[in-house]
Amino acid sequence: MLNMQDVSKIYRTELVETHALRALDLVVKEGEFVAVTGPSGSGKTTFLNIAGLLEEFTSGSYVLDGVDVKGLDDNARSKLRNRKIGFIFQSFNLIPDLNLFDNVDVPLRYRGMGAAERRQRIEKALTDVGLGSRMKHYPAELSGGQQQRAAIARALAGDPRLLLADEPTGNLDSQMARSVMELLEDINARGTTIVMVTHDAELAARAQRNVHIVDGMATDLQRGSVLASA
Ligand SMILES: Nc1ncnc2c1ncn2[C@@H]1O[C@H](COP(=O)(O)OP(=O)(O)O)[C@@H](O)[C@H]1O
Ligand SMILES: [Mg+2]
Repeated sequence: MLNMQDVSKIYRTELVETHALRALDLVVKEGEFVAVTGPSGSGKTTFLNIAGLLEEFTSGSYVLDGVDVKGLDDNARSKLRNRKIGFIFQSFNLIPDLNLFDNVDVPLRYRGMGAAERRQRIEKALTDVGLGSRMKHYPAELSGGQQQRAAIARALAGDPRLLLADEPTGNLDSQMARSVMELLEDINARGTTIVMVTHDAELAARAQRNVHIVDGMATDLQRGSVLASA
């Protein structure tokens, strides 16, 4: 599903170069639920943004669902992102002036879908996350947990094959965090591959696999420990 080899990312400003990723190798198979942990500033968000085609990388190779993304122009990247990938952010990133229905509609409109299909997808996605009765509500009228559920509905309405989540429970209390995690587990059980960056050790432990990013390099925790003892 996702295969990164030797990926590096250097941010350059006039004064400094930051090596956000150095020779990162990471493979995520179809259907996996991978939790990514690591210290602040270690490159987790950079990795996720590259994985989600939001950012370019400096060197290395990245194949997403069989497509080598290296040679793609902006337009092809946007199309691929919009069709294959759903994003969830720590701060929900809902549009405050739009109700939930219209928030979920935004990425579907980008895809040029007809109104009837959009409506059907929006209603299903919001119902699936338990917000079927809140479609006309605005984000400010909801709890943090509900806002994150709405953001998940927005990510899912396009039927992505890969869901990328950057600390999706970082702004939630522990009870809401667990319920969002349960929702992600349901989504994964229905076949969507998930990569989730998290600081929460308890949630990370529930994922099938843990990858640790330190200093821009990834280690597979289980496999790493086996190798270390071999
Ligand atoms: N747009 C940017 N410009 C310059 N440096 C950046 C930018 N984004 C991230 N960085 C730097 O790259 C490194 C990795 O950042 P990030 O991927 O956000 O880490 P994490 O998500 O693990 O906290 C940090 O040193 C950060 O300051
Ligand atoms: Mg981050």
